[in-house]
Amino acid sequence: MKILGIETSCDETAISIIEATGGLEKPSFAVLSEVTITQLDLHKAYGGVVPSLAKREHQRTLMPVLIEAIERSGVACEKKTIAQIPELEALLPKEPDLLAAFLHRKDEFLFPNIDAIAVTHGPGLEPALWVGVNFAKALSLVWGVPIVPVNHMEGHLLSGLLEGAISFPTLGLLVSGGHTELVLAKAWCDYEILGATRDDAVGEAFDKVARLLGLPYPGGPAISKLAEEPSELAFTLPRPMIHSDNYDFSFAGLKTAVLYLTKELGALSDEQKRAIAREFQNAAIDVLISKTKRALEQYSPRSFVIGGGVSANTELRRRMTELLHDEFPDTTLTIPSFKMSTDNATMIAIAGYIRHQKGGIREAGEIRAEGNLSLA
Ligand code: KG4
Ligand code: ZN
Repeated sequence: MKILGIETSCDETAISIIEATGGLEKPSFAVLSEVTITQLDLHKAYGGVVPSLAKREHQRTLMPVLIEAIERSGVACEKKTIAQIPELEALLPKEPDLLAAFLHRKDEFLFPNIDAIAVTHGPGLEPALWVGVNFAKALSLVWGVPIVPVNHMEGHLLSGLLEGAISFPTLGLLVSGGHTELVLAKAWCDYEILGATRDDAVGEAFDKVARLLGLPYPGGPAISKLAEEPSELAFTLPRPMIHSDNYDFSFAGLKTAVLYLTKELGALSDEQKRAIAREFQNAAIDVLISKTKRALEQYSPRSFVIGGGVSANTELRRRMTELLHDEFPDTTLTIPSFKMSTDNATMIAIAGYIRHQKGGIREAGEIRAEGNLSLA
């Protein structure tokens, strides 16, 4: 079946169209089109994502992104003029926003051959999520196609399915700008959260530390690049909760330790910045590795997946690969491609397919944006 995925939870406006086959037994995916517009430059000046600006940008860009996604996908697409859609006239007075959600080009409306719409309904910035949810509802009404609401974190967890199959139980390490959690998937859509961060997410710590070092937002890629450059200096930072007997994380203290260190040092030399970036990255990764190792030992999962923006970190990918290879050779490791690690709509369409197989279609009226939506 063909699924159109919509993602607007943070600062990327993204739409993908995928062809999914194989059911839950052997799910397989082909990406027909994938269009992402990032708002990075807009939020950069503020050092982080501004929800009201994000919302406005999603509203502005969703329609062109959709048109491009449909055109690039090559799916069969009917074109109708407004006179050929009598339903629309009845709908418009009740749904004033509907026209905005329509594919209006030279008085023609596009009706692509899509079987379902998958849309992120949480977690994320609520004003931004609502834009995608309302857009999906309007399209569903006009196209007569069902909606499957998707949890953004489930998208990250399943993003590796594009690379290969997973077997249950599957352990997932989800590391993004808003989340840090270890999740055990016992079966499709059956999750137990083993532990999560008690304060900052690891991506948030990368972003805050980058700011302290005078690096641009988002901090992850900037720190990771700096950490790779050689430095003669060595600093020592804490590894919070590394020995605690649970799967929880804490990254606020690590960031504060960097704050104190930078205050103590005063104006930072490039050499000092490189050394701090390296030690911060090592400290964060040491904790992620240690907790993951503990969970792999306790649950002996058949698959292990990582997902979320921080999983684009080269050093984290290298260390996880080494850990699995050296100590857990019976567990299959799945790492999404760099493009699939950060926010995208393909992972939403993939999770939408899995949810669809599990009866995940919902009435449009029931679907709400939920900023704090949890996996379990
Ligand atoms: O999953 P994502 O794109 O958006 C959220 O759902 O939050 O994750 C964004 C986070 C940001 O905090 C960013 O700094 C971090 O992922 N990130 C990285 C890297 N690339 C992105 N962190 C470390 N190393 C990277 N290479
Ligand atoms: Zn994300």
